Amino acid sequence: MRFDILTLFPEMFEAVLGDSIIGRARSKGLIELNFVQIREFAHNKHRQVDDYPYGGGAGMVMQAEPLYQAYQSVIEGLDYKPRTIYLSPQGKTFRQSTAKRLSKDKHQHIVLLCGHYEGVDQRLLDEIIDEELSLGDFVLTGGEIAAMAMVDATARLIPGVLKSEEAFSEESHFSGLLEYPQYTRPEVWHGEKVPEILLSGHHKNIEAWKRRMSIETTFKKRRGMLSKAKLSPDEKKLVKELKESENL
Ligand SMILES: C[S@@+](CC[C@H](N)C(=O)[O-])C[C@H]1O[C@@H](n2cnc3c(N)ncnc32)[C@H](O)[C@@H]1O
Repeated sequence: MRFDILTLFPEMFEAVLGDSIIGRARSKGLIELNFVQIREFAHNKHRQVDDYPYGGGAGMVMQAEPLYQAYQSVIEGLDYKPRTIYLSPQGKTFRQSTAKRLSKDKHQHIVLLCGHYEGVDQRLLDEIIDEELSLGDFVLTGGEIAAMAMVDATARLIPGVLKSEEAFSEESHFSGLLEYPQYTRPEVWHGEKVPEILLSGHHKNIEAWKRRMSIETTFKKRRGMLSKAKLSPDEKKLVKELKESENL
């Protein structure tokens, strides 16, 4: 899968997306990340890409033309339009389901536009953007952190990036529940022992424990998610019991 990231700060990305799982996936050719320095498309002495807002107001606005040229450099020669996303606090909130959808993009090609300053000339957004996505209801100084988070969450769902599909299909949010608690060696730490069942080697009982703990964790931390999760009649009974035990 290919990601093209239009940004004023390409150097920010390598520290986050150059190593570990994403770095390895890039070396294996499973994902391709291209960073386009928007400033290279500014045709003035100081390579300035922002200007004062019409109508007044605080801060500067990124100009349409350099961004348009940067975008053209990405799509040149393609016979399709890659899905083009503007990172914005005004967009729909990025979720696990968004990552899943993007990882299945029909062209396996996503373009991300990182804004800065007060944002981007609206005419450019109207012309090239298919979708606006937000990292959450807060305002960042630029779209780069949001782009890194979205590339990371999307790329790890691409087949081959993680060692097995199990690695993400049990994780929080994938199936509408949070994940069960995890433990690793040593068996006893600060006097606390790993739950006995995880040492039993009894695969079926361990799976049942994980599922139950997943439901209990979701109940404790994000109860609202349970109304949308797919639960068996026994699991619905468990949720009812958890609610009742709270009222005791
Ligand atoms: C300071 S913000 C601009 C905010 C804009 N003036 C507004 O009020 O909607 C600068 C850039 O940071 C990025 N950004 C800020 N908050 C974000 C968020 N929550 N999610 C994704 N991108 C964000 C966007 O690309 C935006 O163009």
